[in-house]
Amino acid sequence: MSAQNSNSNSNSNSNNSIQSKILSVASYLPPNVVTNFDLEKMMDTTNDWIVQRTGINERRWITGDESTSDLAYHAATLAIERAQIDKSEIDMLMLATLSPDHEFPGTACFLQGKLGISGIPAIDVRQQCSGFVYALSMADLYIKSGRYKKILIVGAEVHSQGLDKTSEGRDVAVLFGDGAGAIILGANQVNANDYSSESHILSTHIHADGQYAKELWVAAPGSAFGKNGRITDAHIREKLVYPKMNGKMVFSHAVRRMIESLEECSSFNKINLADIDLFLFHQANLRIVESICQRMKLPEEKVFNTVQRFANTTAATLPIGMDYAIAENKLKRGMLVALSTFGSGFTWGSALLRF
Ligand code: ACO
Repeated sequence: MSAQNSNSNSNSNSNNSIQSKILSVASYLPPNVVTNFDLEKMMDTTNDWIVQRTGINERRWITGDESTSDLAYHAATLAIERAQIDKSEIDMLMLATLSPDHEFPGTACFLQGKLGISGIPAIDVRQQCSGFVYALSMADLYIKSGRYKKILIVGAEVHSQGLDKTSEGRDVAVLFGDGAGAIILGANQVNANDYSSESHILSTHIHADGQYAKELWVAAPGSAFGKNGRITDAHIREKLVYPKMNGKMVFSHAVRRMIESLEECSSFNKINLADIDLFLFHQANLRIVESICQRMKLPEEKVFNTVQRFANTTAATLPIGMDYAIAENKLKRGMLVALSTFGSGFTWGSALLRF
């Protein structure tokens, strides 16, 4: 797809000196570890099946009454602390999730209330596994336009309450974990001569194809049930409140679209894949990432995965991955980093940044 036709944002070819820079990264994972062996006790599954098909060994599931905005609050608070800013400096908040606290209002508003930063815009992003890259893309544009200077972006999920944990739901239930990741994106004045070395987002690219909307979805509650009501006893009996997934189709589209969006990203910026220091893919399934790496000939040491320990935390996987990559010294300032994602919708996207 040509840069003109894609939903790309970059001003790498202009003289505009306002760029957006990731000021800090943080994450929060609930402490309760649920292993594949624990799942064996809940449903007809085995550790071997899960490891072979997905690479997942364990995930975190909440034990108490924590909601998505609670997990988001922990990650956001740490991100604010690490950016060494006062929370009053944040002038916009975006929260990506598919597991909102309530039907409405948006979970960003609940997070805003907990953080005590009234007055600024609070936006929910509902692009599931692609939510973080979608939010990054929009926040990047707001900053480059000069409208906002510091934007808090959070990806947060509590999946564990929304899964069918019986044998009937085993194909999906074993894949998902709870967690949150956050970044502070800030305006950075960059001199045109320092452009290639300064920390900034080079470009983002976001896409969707709604003809696949029902290949990975939760049907109820929803207005599409019309006069029958958004949620009925029958919906619950028929388990329409749980995610349904066409696993094989999701797998093949995820591989294809993440490759495509990485290629879009590298050709848009006229950068060879070999020049990228670190690749962070959405963490749905280790087999998906391995398949991409094999096809794109990406060296293992340039790819950072967390799915083995945290499973799929949808909108939170990328910021969680960044945080752990920093902690493990795999992600350092000055590196050229590519993010790529795919999720329900179908939605997908990528971003290239000088960290
Ligand atoms: N434990 C044991 N057996 C299971 C389980 C389980 N948890 N789940 C399914 N099975 C069984 C099936 O019932 C089937 O049994 P059968 O042959 O007797 O009918 C058998 O395993 C094979 O099932 P398949 O669906 O063919 O398994 P497949 O090899 O396709 O693997 C999987 C399933 C892992 C879900 C795969 O399709 C996949 O990884 N898809 C990608 C989905 C994904 O990652 N989704 C995450 C959300 S989307 C996103 O984030 C991008």
